[in-house]
Amino acid sequence: AHGPLLDTHGRVHRDLRISLTDRCSLRCTYCMPEQGNEWLARSSILTVDEIVRVARVAAAAGITTFRLTGGEPLLRPDLVEVVRRLSAIDEGHGPVRVAMTTNGIRLAETLDALADAGLARLNISIDTLRRDRFAALTRRDRLADVLRGIAAAAASDLRPLKLNTVAMRGVNDDELCDLVEFAIAHDAELRFIEQMPLDAGHTWDRERMVTRQEILDALGRRWALTPVAGRGGAPAERWRLDGGAATVGVIASVTAPFCGDCDRLRLTADGQLRNCLFSSHEFDLLPVLRDTRASDRDLDRVLRACVWAKLPGHAIDDPAFLQPERGMNAIGG
Ligand code: GTP
Ligand code: 5AD
Ligand code: SF4
Repeated sequence: AHGPLLDTHGRVHRDLRISLTDRCSLRCTYCMPEQGNEWLARSSILTVDEIVRVARVAAAAGITTFRLTGGEPLLRPDLVEVVRRLSAIDEGHGPVRVAMTTNGIRLAETLDALADAGLARLNISIDTLRRDRFAALTRRDRLADVLRGIAAAAASDLRPLKLNTVAMRGVNDDELCDLVEFAIAHDAELRFIEQMPLDAGHTWDRERMVTRQEILDALGRRWALTPVAGRGGAPAERWRLDGGAATVGVIASVTAPFCGDCDRLRLTADGQLRNCLFSSHEFDLLPVLRDTRASDRDLDRVLRACVWAKLPGHAIDDPAFLQPERGMNAIGG
């Protein structure tokens, strides 16, 4: 290895998002079509050994955080083993942290095992607190299961606990303050997310999207918002509510992108490295992983090539912008 994962714009990469499966227990309209997608071929899905090998090479190159995503990571039968083995990685740069982003279904049943295996943090998605809306948005009547997952997470000592809400016009934009209060009651930080053009139907519309400013206006009518300084490489801007301990975040990937500070790399469930959510080119690790003559140095080379090719930022506002071919469920969020 030779130094950290640096790109041509001076950004050092510290965070690897690992998608464990493209399958999901929900069918959110902004992510997947009703019938699901054509799933990735089983033979191309990375094994635990392959994931751990990539992660060790990444840690040797300075990656300190692994975030498990999906699809839905809880659908992966060997999830606990993945967490246990990733948490144990120590390539000499200090301890790594393993976090997970989940829809919460089945979390209540698995949480203790995940915490024992070394999971450090959880982000859980919740877009609405109303059963009928949840069923329409996700095409599954499973709000109660999600709420049980959130309750279990709140009762655990994984902190900080974060909740994610994609703000959507005519869907949940009248519930924003209720969601914040729900989060506060669960000792969690809610982050509102601007919807990005990654939906299966390619129906995203800039004019319909709920913006950071609209979210802040709605929250500002209820609470006095004080900005929290020191964002680091994090995608969320944060505010304190009425000067108290509770905070709320906004992830404004569209109207206020944080690409200049981006420190993320992505690994898909089928072994493709992506340097951006929106990249059009992927770096294929699968043949390297499955070639008995290839070494960890060869993997390291692909990692570095991928980071080196990273563009300064996304081009959502460019009229020539093209949505990536992969759906959000196969990229990992
Ligand atoms: P924390 O480290 O806990 O702040 O996690 P996170 O917010 O990075 O991850 P999470 O999986 O909870 O994602 C929340 C939202 O941020 C989702 O909509 C992601 O798609 C989005 N997101 C995460 N990383 C990136 C990124 O690098 N670029 C952009 N544009 N969006 C991102
Ligand atoms: N735009 C923004 N966020 C999205 N997510 C899924 N699809 C989109 C999109 N098109 C969110 C999920 C989850 C996180 C991983 O990404 O709701 O909270
Ligand atoms: Fe990073 Fe791409 Fe997200 Fe920008 S859009 S923050 S470059 S992943």
